[in-house]
Amino acid sequence: ARSNSSVKQLAESPNLSSIPSNYIYHSDPAETDLQASIPVIDLSLLTSHNPHHKAKAIHDLDQACQHWGFFILVNHGMPEELTQGMLEAAAEFFNLSEADKPDFNPENVLSPIRYGTSFNAATDHVFCWRDFLKVFVHPHFACPHKPQSLRGLLPEYCERSRDVVAKLLKAISESLGLEETEMEKALEMTSSLQIFVANYYPRCPNPEAAMGILPHSDHGLFTLLIQNGVGGLQIQHHQRWFNVNPPPNSILVNTGDHLEIYSNGKYKSVLHRAIVNNKTARISIATANGPSLDAVVAPACRLVQGEGGGVVAAYAAMKYKDYLLEQQSGQLDGKTMLKR
Ligand code: SIN
Ligand code: FE2
Repeated sequence: ARSNSSVKQLAESPNLSSIPSNYIYHSDPAETDLQASIPVIDLSLLTSHNPHHKAKAIHDLDQACQHWGFFILVNHGMPEELTQGMLEAAAEFFNLSEADKPDFNPENVLSPIRYGTSFNAATDHVFCWRDFLKVFVHPHFACPHKPQSLRGLLPEYCERSRDVVAKLLKAISESLGLEETEMEKALEMTSSLQIFVANYYPRCPNPEAAMGILPHSDHGLFTLLIQNGVGGLQIQHHQRWFNVNPPPNSILVNTGDHLEIYSNGKYKSVLHRAIVNNKTARISIATANGPSLDAVVAPACRLVQGEGGGVVAAYAAMKYKDYLLEQQSGQLDGKTMLKR
């Protein structure tokens, strides 16, 4: 399978009355229309000087990560002008002429700027109704040449996102019973990999037959997500799919595969997907925040007792870069990469 053009171009082609057959996704029949009310975490309390407030917030974060793998972050310190500006810049990017965008679908999944469609159009059997821009922004910062608005805002947005992640990692270290700075040291966060992902889901003539992004879990530690007010994300909870509609100006956060590994399975990364609609194009911006590409990620030593201690490592150690290469080069296939 291969696609040489964006789904945006396909969706805008005149007389498109139904989606091509390679976009047809067979959802399981037990589909529901459930709304998830996922936990709300207040970042200002997680970093509070009041020990009671902080302990309560860490407890809430621990529960959210154990039971949902997703939470809504409020009082996160990210200015609304910045998040709105980023969403507008992403819209401007997708509205550029194809000639003004980076090369379409370069093969190398580690290339710093990648514009493409579906998940990996070279290997996907079913195409996703989605175009994407993926940019490696840390430890080395890259950015497409256009639009100017993106060039202006991307550095600050990514830096502030990393600050949020650093605070979450301190709190998670504590909730795992470790030193506050243990995770950032073990995972070499000074050279952490951060990938900026902008997703564009055009209006779709047969939304029930297509999928914006197939079920998957995220690599890395924490993914931060904002959207243009249009819903579509669904998360799996107790074997059912739930719609998630985060309130305006919040940031939706989910735990990634490497937090699952590091926590030895205490915090599971959760399957999610994005559905599409026939009314409004949806834009989401995800920042994937992982360890250093060179970090070897394994369950934290202190969570795994030696011989006779009872707790065994439930995951094999693996270099983050090797994991990423394998996950991004294949087909989107649930979370098979985590199976030993
Ligand atoms: C993703 O999981 O990569 C994107 C989710 C979304 O667009 O809401
Ligand atoms: Fe994801």
